[in-house]
Amino acid sequence: MLDVVFARPALPRAGALAILAARDAEPAGLWRDADAATSGAIGRALSEARFTGERGKTCTILSPGAGLARVVAVGLGKDEPTACAIENAGGTLASALTQDEAAAIAADQLTPELAAHAAFGAVLRAYRFDRYRTKQKPDEQPRLAKLVILTTDPSAARAAWETLRPVAEAVHFTRDLVSEPANVLTPAEFARRCEALTPLGVKVTTLGPKELEKAGFGALLAVAQGSANEPRVVVMQYSGTAPRGPKEGAEKEKPARRARRVKPLAFIGKGVTFDTGGISIKPAGGMEDMKWDMAGAGAVVGLMMALAGRRAKAEVVGLIGLVENMPSGTAQRPGDVVKSLSGQTIEVINTDAEGRLVLADVIAYCQQKFDPAFMVDLATLTGAIIIGLGHEHAGLFANDDTLAERLFAAGKETGEKVWRMPLDEAYDKQLRSDIADMKNVGGRPAGSCTAAQFIQRFVDGTPWAHLDVAGMVWSSKDAPATPKGATGFGVRLLNRFVAENYES
Ligand code: BES
Ligand code: MN
Ligand code: ZN
Repeated sequence: MLDVVFARPALPRAGALAILAARDAEPAGLWRDADAATSGAIGRALSEARFTGERGKTCTILSPGAGLARVVAVGLGKDEPTACAIENAGGTLASALTQDEAAAIAADQLTPELAAHAAFGAVLRAYRFDRYRTKQKPDEQPRLAKLVILTTDPSAARAAWETLRPVAEAVHFTRDLVSEPANVLTPAEFARRCEALTPLGVKVTTLGPKELEKAGFGALLAVAQGSANEPRVVVMQYSGTAPRGPKEGAEKEKPARRARRVKPLAFIGKGVTFDTGGISIKPAGGMEDMKWDMAGAGAVVGLMMALAGRRAKAEVVGLIGLVENMPSGTAQRPGDVVKSLSGQTIEVINTDAEGRLVLADVIAYCQQKFDPAFMVDLATLTGAIIIGLGHEHAGLFANDDTLAERLFAAGKETGEKVWRMPLDEAYDKQLRSDIADMKNVGGRPAGSCTAAQFIQRFVDGTPWAHLDVAGMVWSSKDAPATPKGATGFGVRLLNRFVAENYES
C-alpha cells in the first residue's frame, strides 16, 4: 500500500506538488506560495490551459521552477467538498503522480479530516494487482511509494487516518481476493486466506464438506457436488464490545450478567469461486468474468477486516458460502429436488441460479446459530440487476425500512450507492413449484426481484437486507478512487453503515 505521511504546510523544494482548486478560486496558502516561488508560472500555465477548477478536471505543469518537477492541479467544482469528493480528488491526483518518486498534496485549505480523506482516495486509486506479471518494464511500474499530505494540523489528520487506513487495507484485501483467478482461489484457498483475520482478533471457523453435510447444508452442497474443489463455509466472529483480555475483578461478575448477550450484526456473502452455470452452462463469451462471482463473500471478509482493524465497538459476525459451480458427471441436474438446511425443498430448474441456493443455507444457518439483530447479504446474484441499474447502484431489497434507509444513507456518504427495489408477494408466486416447496427461478420478468424473493423464503422474520452487487464489483474502466478491475464494493459502504448506526 502507498505510504502516507502528514506534515505541516511547507513548500517542497523538489518532486511533485498537487493542489486542490475550487471552481474559479483565487490561489491561497501553499498554492499561492508555489505561484509566488515560480514567479507566477503556475497561474499563467493554469490560465493558458483554461483550467477553472471544474470538478474532476486536472492540469499538469512540468518544471514550473522553484525546483518543482511537476505541479498537478485538480478541480473540486463549486459545491462545498464532501469527504467523497475529496477522496475522488485524492484518487485523481494519485493517478497523475504515479511517475513521481516524491509527491506532496497541498491540503492546507482543507480540514484535517478531509486531508485524511484525500490520502484515503489516493491510496485506493494506487491499488494494483501485479502478482502475475513477470515481464513488466520499469517504466510501466509506478514510482510513487510515499505521499506527503501537507495539512495545518498533522496530528488531527493522523488521528483521522488511523480509522481510514484499516479500511483502505481491507478494500485492498477484498480486491486481491476478487482479482485472483479461480484456479488459484478455490473455496479451500479462500477459506485459508480468511485466517489473515485471526491476528486482528477475529475468530475464524471453517466448515468442510463433512460438517456441512452433518449440519444439513443440502442446497449449498447440491451446487458444490459438480466440482472437484470442495466447498467451505467460513464463520468470522468479531467482538468489539467485550472487554479485551482478563480484567481485574472480572471473576466477581454475576453469572447472570455474563450470560446476557447482545445480538450480533450479521453479514453474509455469496462466494461462488467460479460460476460456469453448471449443467445449465453459460455461453463462452465473457465467462471468465465469473471468477468474480465470489465478490459478495470478498466484501464480507474485507468488512470484518476493516471493523477489526479499526477496533469498531460492535458485535459482528460474517459468514460466507464458498463453492464452485461446475458441470460434471456428479453435478446436479435441472429438475433435481434438494432439501435445504431450513427443511424447505427446492426444485432446481436452472443450475445457473446457484447463488440463491448457497445463500439460502448460509442465511438459515446464521439465524439458527447466532440469532442476529439483523442480516445483510451481498451477492453477485443476477445479470438482471445490471440491466436495471447498470454500474451505478447496487440493488437493495429489504424487509425493514430502517435498515434500508440506513444502507441508502451510507451509500450516499461513501459513494458506494444502492437503490431500493421491491419485494412483493406477486413476485413470490412466480417461485411456486409443482413438485417441491419452491423452484429456484421465477422466469424472465423481474429476475432480480424473484431472486430476492427466493432468499426471503429463508429469512425467519429477522430484519434483513439483500444487496445484489453484480453490477458493482468489477469495473471495466478507471474511476477516480478505483482503478479498473475489482472495486472492493461493499467494504466502505458497510463499514460506514456500522460506524454510523451500531457502534456504542
Ligand atoms: N453469477 C450470476 C449472476 C451474474 C451474471 C453476475 C452476470 C454478474 C454478471 C448468477 O449466478 C446467475 O447466473 N444468475 C442467472 C439467474 C438466472 C438463471 C435466473 C442470471 O442472472 O442469468
Ligand atoms: Mn449462476
Ligand atoms: Zn453466480
